[in-house]
Amino acid sequence: MKTLFIGQNIIYLKSVDSTNSYATEMLRQNNIPEGSLIYTFNQTNGRGQRGNQWESQPNKNVALSLVLHPTFICADKQYLLIKIISLAVADLLADILFQVEMAGRIKIKWPNDIYIDDKKIGGILIENIWRDNKLQSSVVGIGININQTHFVSTNKSTSLALLTNRETDLKEVIEQLCSHIEARYLQLKANKLENIDFEYLQRLYRLNTWNLFSANNQTFEGNITGVGDSGKLNVLMKTGETIAFDLKEIVFI
Ligand code: BTN
Repeated sequence: MKTLFIGQNIIYLKSVDSTNSYATEMLRQNNIPEGSLIYTFNQTNGRGQRGNQWESQPNKNVALSLVLHPTFICADKQYLLIKIISLAVADLLADILFQVEMAGRIKIKWPNDIYIDDKKIGGILIENIWRDNKLQSSVVGIGININQTHFVSTNKSTSLALLTNRETDLKEVIEQLCSHIEARYLQLKANKLENIDFEYLQRLYRLNTWNLFSANNQTFEGNITGVGDSGKLNVLMKTGETIAFDLKEIVFI
């Protein structure tokens, strides 16, 4: 591992229900060094956002959790961690897909789904532990579809194998991912927020185009113009008004 702290302490599990659940339970019992990596190639009950399941065939994909102690982040700046982790996953995939000229097609669907064109290739589930209005620990769960070519639960998923027609070494991907996460995390620690915001915007899925959304049981056309300081999604309406939507308030159709 060519990193300073991300992935230096490694816990490999032959099989586990969810690396996030395992990491959270470990944190409950002990303090774990920053950057600890928990991974498996056989996650049997992977958890996704909004209580969804995360599908992953054994020995095909990356499923890992990293433990961070981002005590420098205030409660209202939590979305920054979401941004840098999404960027790191996008950086990784862009690196790999550069050879097949697909790097520019990697997008971040707000707030933290990783897409290529209109299909999802990676998902992120960040679970936080707070103390005194400060983030004490975060369990950063990342799933990336690598060598799986059939998906049972959805036809909106894709994988590196489907895009490149070849297999990718899972351990190498994990190493590369750790390097990208470390670089982005250090960028955040150094408070380079303008760069982070700019790069996140460059990767934002459906930026500056009119699309259908649903909110408050209503379907409407909107145009994503950016992400505000609070991490909310700014959507321009046909009326000319811009509305900032929070997580769970808006759905892409
Ligand atoms: C999503 O897009 O819904 C988030 C998916 C997150 C999946 C990863 S796989 C490793 C880690 N352990 C889990 O149980 N979930 C995350």
